[in-house]
Amino acid sequence: MMLKDFKTSLKYSRDLDLSDPLRKYRKEFHIPENTIYLDGNSLGLCPKKGETSLFRILDEWKTRGIHGWLEGENPWFFLAEEIGKMMAPLVGAHPEEVICTGTTTVNQHALLSTFYKPDGIRTKILADEKNFPSDIYAIKSHLKMRGYNPREHLILVGADKNGFIPGNRITAHMTHEVALALFPSVFFRTGQLLDISKITREAHKKGIIIGFDCSHSVGSVQHSFSSDDIDFAFWCGYKYLNGGPGCPASLYINKRHFGKEPLMAGWFGYNKQKQFEMSLDFEHQKSAGGWQISTPAVISMAPLEGSLSLFLEAGMDKIREKSIMLTTYLIRLVDELLHKEPYAFHIGTPRNPESRGGHVAVRREKNALQICEALKQRNIVPDFRPPDIIRIAPSSFYNRFEDIWILVKVLRDLIDNREYEKCTPGSKLIT
Ligand SMILES: Cc1ncc(COP(=O)(O)O)c(C=O)c1O
Repeated sequence: MMLKDFKTSLKYSRDLDLSDPLRKYRKEFHIPENTIYLDGNSLGLCPKKGETSLFRILDEWKTRGIHGWLEGENPWFFLAEEIGKMMAPLVGAHPEEVICTGTTTVNQHALLSTFYKPDGIRTKILADEKNFPSDIYAIKSHLKMRGYNPREHLILVGADKNGFIPGNRITAHMTHEVALALFPSVFFRTGQLLDISKITREAHKKGIIIGFDCSHSVGSVQHSFSSDDIDFAFWCGYKYLNGGPGCPASLYINKRHFGKEPLMAGWFGYNKQKQFEMSLDFEHQKSAGGWQISTPAVISMAPLEGSLSLFLEAGMDKIREKSIMLTTYLIRLVDELLHKEPYAFHIGTPRNPESRGGHVAVRREKNALQICEALKQRNIVPDFRPPDIIRIAPSSFYNRFEDIWILVKVLRDLIDNREYEKCTPGSKLIT
């Protein structure tokens, strides 16, 4: 699918929808009534198959009680591993390298406990100033736990004037003092996608362990963790993966590290064959599962099973292809129809599709928050990131090209009739 003979007409968007090979998946989702939902990178919508797998597991609980752990269609005791297996093709990993467990930040802590090994003068952690704050808090805690002052031991790569973190700035900071590097695959504000393969190669040349927070890419970008040879990764389940609010996260560990020790040990990381021997000496499972800590949140995980079946059926290549088309289409429309005064919007996301994840930052110096609220009052759901970013995250499963066309049309209307001036943000909490 290519964006050929681009036009700004409604008909053009409808023609794109007609030739969209994924259009049949829209009916697989619960879409809030009369709503254009463009917030799939915060909370993906509920897939009907996810609802089915959730109700099946609830039913197993009702009818089997504790036997559900080892009986039934997909026994709960192995569900985290099974979901890991389903997720592995999305991230280009071996099945045993992925496990669904914990939460994003807890997984990061578990991974840093193993992979941050200061040694001699190699004590520093390399990250960037545009990462999600939780990641930086976790890094700072690990530095403090080892007695290092984050002011000296955390190196934050700075952004360029567009708010992007250029790959060559990252690699320029890879010195012999760096023990570990951690970057987002896709930046939560700008949607910039890093070249994971290249950055990993450079890190390894310098003897640096490298991991990625892939919360804003898994389910939207096809990853190749094994061939890129990254050391570790973690990501959440509630964004593009449509696992629902509070859905557990996942983590990846390159199999060459299976022998390393999980230092936030818990009994669900124990050798699975012998877990119920209840030994007091921890012996971890030699797979990503070894980094689990506690009893899996089976009910919260359940929707992922159904949701992932859609990803496997549709194929990540097609999902990514449509995602690029949707974001390219939005960028073209903003350039054509929303850039000039009085609209004054501009694109804050890399234009090269290879450097772009699944969302677009549509920026406006003035009144962006009010405009975002006005969109919500018109039943269009984006989200806002200060100071001036309206994030638009179309899902390849449930968004149409026509949704993007309507969004742009409504944005023009809001400015033309100054409708946004009546909007004060309803809540100080930004969702
Ligand atoms: C990029 C990124 N990393 C980490 C987190 C934190 O996730 P959690 O609250 O699941 O720990 C988020 C939350 O949205 C995120 O977007």
